[in-house]
Amino acid sequence: MSYNIAIDGPAGAGKSTIAKKIAKKLGYIYVDTGAMYRAMALYLLREQVQPSDTEKINVKCAEADISIGHENGEQIVYLNGENVNDLIRSEKVGNMASASSPNPNVRKKLVELQRRLAASENVVMDGRDIGTCVLPDAQVKVYLTADSRVRAQRRYKELTDKGVSCDLDTIEQDIIERDRKDMTREISPLMQAEDAVLLDSSDKSIDEVVDAVIALVH
Ligand code: DC
Repeated sequence: MSYNIAIDGPAGAGKSTIAKKIAKKLGYIYVDTGAMYRAMALYLLREQVQPSDTEKINVKCAEADISIGHENGEQIVYLNGENVNDLIRSEKVGNMASASSPNPNVRKKLVELQRRLAASENVVMDGRDIGTCVLPDAQVKVYLTADSRVRAQRRYKELTDKGVSCDLDTIEQDIIERDRKDMTREISPLMQAEDAVLLDSSDKSIDEVVDAVIALVH
């Protein structure tokens, strides 16, 4: 039987950083489910689908074959056989992912893929609905969060380190708005599973959070 660790939480809480480190320490496979929604979004953008055109999303999402592989511990997302890792991190793709991920057909397709992966491998899977919907029987569930100001400061640092000028208050407002959308959508909203352990990373280092999750696994 495979061993599954589910990590959910709002954007910017540090899920992917933490999940990658845990996967490396335990020799598990890291599965970034947000990247799958982003690959689907890239396909929809290429097909010039409007985010509000539910009918067309329903038709087009059936045509997108999304699969994942791994190279040197990194997840590679394939869209109809093409490695799209470098194409899915843009703001444009992120916004389309946010708009198309509430679609039930998109979710059904990607949740099936996520469940297949978790059934055959030990995984650390991060997302929004892993503990509540995708893997309700995961052996360890973590809800990782952090204060919106702290998440905004992390994002601010990331951007300014890259030389991008930005405004901290605006970033925080965007984060609060994204949380609201994720938490209030009809299908699979972001929420803490009843049996998930709440971890707040606001005052913790990455290693402190990783150690806390490893302790739960043990
Ligand atoms: O974590 P991220 O920014 O890469 O996620 C991209 C989008 O996909 C985001 O709008 C939330 C959505 N998502 C989701 O609905 N369910 C998941 N399990 C993961 C991501």
